[in-house]
Amino acid sequence: VNLPAQAYASSNLALSTTLPSSPGFHGSKACPNPPGTLNRHAMTEIVPVISATGLYTPPDSISNEELVESFNAYVARFNADHAAEIAAGTVNELQPSSAEFIEKASGIKARHVISKAPILDPAIMAPRWAERPNEEISVLAEIGVAAARDALARAGRDAADIDAVLCAASNMQRPYPAMAIEIQAALGIEGFAFDMNVACSSATFGIQTAADYVRAGHARSVLVVSPEICSGHLNWRDRDSHFIFGDVATAVLVEAVEMAPPRHWEIVGTRLKTVFSNNIRNNFGFLNRATPETAGAADKLFVQEGRKVFKEVVPMVAAMIAEEADRLGLQGALRRLWLHQANQGMNRLIAQRVLGHEANDDESPTVLDTYGNTSSAGSIIAFHLHSEDLAPGDTGVICSFGAGYSAGTVFVRKVA
Ligand code: COA
Repeated sequence: VNLPAQAYASSNLALSTTLPSSPGFHGSKACPNPPGTLNRHAMTEIVPVISATGLYTPPDSISNEELVESFNAYVARFNADHAAEIAAGTVNELQPSSAEFIEKASGIKARHVISKAPILDPAIMAPRWAERPNEEISVLAEIGVAAARDALARAGRDAADIDAVLCAASNMQRPYPAMAIEIQAALGIEGFAFDMNVACSSATFGIQTAADYVRAGHARSVLVVSPEICSGHLNWRDRDSHFIFGDVATAVLVEAVEMAPPRHWEIVGTRLKTVFSNNIRNNFGFLNRATPETAGAADKLFVQEGRKVFKEVVPMVAAMIAEEADRLGLQGALRRLWLHQANQGMNRLIAQRVLGHEANDDESPTVLDTYGNTSSAGSIIAFHLHSEDLAPGDTGVICSFGAGYSAGTVFVRKVA
């Protein structure tokens, strides 16, 4: 891609993590190079922005009450079928779930899913659809394409304008060919595409990656697509987690400011962090066939130590947002937090620590109640549905956190 050399004299240049902290910094010429980085003085800065976002929401939704009714029917059946072993103490009696517990513990009231009836069937409790031939688009690619088309339409963009597609999500349809290339082909995009998986933080890591491609001049317009069919990795028979996830797809269009529509979001700064943890795991993988005796074990689906995650991630993420806001000179200026949507209590605590007071719905909007946890898509849905009303100049942060641990922040400022 040949990019026109153009200086961006306007203020508020996007700051990558490789740029130094300086709230008063307005342009690459004022930027001393951090050790070990390229000589940016010699380069013309290309500014990446968010041009538009897109969303695909499956029409079907499961309420807590429907979910619990199905789960409890399964529990009753299991306990009846294993009555003798339970009486003998060789099998544990299963405990029923409760809609009140789910809403109180998580804030989730319902979740959208692609395949409702089989999930609610106590004899199945998993999504089901006919396997598609290789000539047909895969299910994940299909919902990714729907979200991508939404973002392209909002930006008034043609496929011909896009240079790259990143499929940034927790689970891919298959190891290869890449989902991103399938989405690229379905949209008729030239250039390059690849998959990246950073669990719940895939989308924010994808936005920074896209922004870096734009800054480096490797692409002018990059689609970051996050199709999340979380119903496929959720153990619907596990009382501790059966209520957590939902299905959705989001897309974020990251572009050089010169080609962006007048109404866009400046990427003021991004920061990524990973810290190894065993508290959220999914051990499903291609080497499972090397140990067939454990291939169907519970850890081949999503498992977590929810309490530990809650306790460890809240301080980590609150400190990360606060430090980065400080570095960018945005302390006290954040109008809205679009937080990862996993647990309402976590979000309340993080927002309180960042803002210094209890956040209202306007400051920290929730989509968790109707979408459940949608992994990497959660903070993007919140941003997509709750950003129109902000005024030009308003700033906010898109923030994800989850397995890895991984956490990502994207600070944005509304333009026009
Ligand atoms: N219905 C009724 N009771 C249930 C239940 C259910 N579905 N699931 C668990 N319980 C019970 C437990 O058995 C436990 O009972 P006990 O006190 O008698 O032992 C009690 O409720 C509390 O269980 P616990 O698992 O400690 O609940 P919690 O308050 O930690 O809430 C989560 C569970 C998962 C909602 C919460 O820990 C969470 O969301 N953590 C953050 C997870 C996260 O962000 N993960 C990232 C994923 S990407």
